[in-house]
Amino acid sequence: MPCQMVDSFGRKVTGLRIALTPRCNLKCIYCHHEGEVGPTGEIPDEMVVNVARAAAELGVRSLKFTGGEPLLRKDLADLISQMPQDLDISLTTNGVFLAEQAEALSEAGLDRVNISLDSLDSKNYCAITGGKARDLERVLAGIDAAKEAGLVPIKLNVVVLKKNEAEIPELIDFCRRKGVILQLIELLDLQNLGISGDIEGIERSLAAQADSIRTREMHRRKKYFLKGAEVEVVRPMDNTEFCANCTRLRVTSDGKIKPCLLRSDNLIEIGTCNTEEIKELLRAANARREPYFGTVPEQVKHAHNIESSIRQILPKI
Ligand code: 5AD
Repeated sequence: MPCQMVDSFGRKVTGLRIALTPRCNLKCIYCHHEGEVGPTGEIPDEMVVNVARAAAELGVRSLKFTGGEPLLRKDLADLISQMPQDLDISLTTNGVFLAEQAEALSEAGLDRVNISLDSLDSKNYCAITGGKARDLERVLAGIDAAKEAGLVPIKLNVVVLKKNEAEIPELIDFCRRKGVILQLIELLDLQNLGISGDIEGIERSLAAQADSIRTREMHRRKKYFLKGAEVEVVRPMDNTEFCANCTRLRVTSDGKIKPCLLRSDNLIEIGTCNTEEIKELLRAANARREPYFGTVPEQVKHAHNIESSIRQILPKI
């Protein structure tokens, strides 16, 4: 199916991210909650199925389930089994409940997983995630189970923080040993916490050590190859091309189409719409897409009043 959604900046929509629940078993110090506002509900299965079908009919090729923590969603395997055949289906998980679900999810049609793991040191892991040492053990078991179940390529998400920057070489070794891709992610520091690690310095040292470097079209991400390890660097804040190459729409856990992670003033409610009607809503959401960083003039951003939208995104802070 050719891509039928291209916005006025020439950006195609090829990926849809659906937040299946706002609930999470961890409490990561940096979490942006997928840009969701306030307390939310849990999008019903039928709506997920309809929006996935509509998106597939408009040429979307990949579907990512997020949260909250998507593995907290009841009957996730059943939901995945109802997805259109030709979509690449992945999920972003903290991995704590992955070991026991990996096989069933794979059988249901899940293609691959991104696992968030910001530290291999149990004290540090607990300080970053609010979890327990046994949660870290479970994530490690989850990585092995996902591999076993063929949920590959597995990507390990590491948000680069002051707390974990010293661990990056160890995380690279770990990923090399496990045969998983490391994604080093720049912190979106919406709360001005000042906890970001030096991702720029890390990237410089990766560039110096790399056997080869590739640039992915998606978000112009750089990929470094180091003696068998694959390291991708995702830098939304510092990369003016990040938004210019965005190919996503999102659906919030309470059933609204969200054209941009960083804005909550342009959502479109799905309500009781059927698949045909959702196609129109997706087209309308696509028409509302505009790059947040880089290519949009400052006046436009100020017109949206960034301060207040950030306060909306993070109402509890
Ligand atoms: N900055 C960057 N990435 C974030 N994530 C969540 N919050 C943030 C943030 N503030 C991403 C990470 C994490 C996934 C669940 O969401 O990649 O692994």
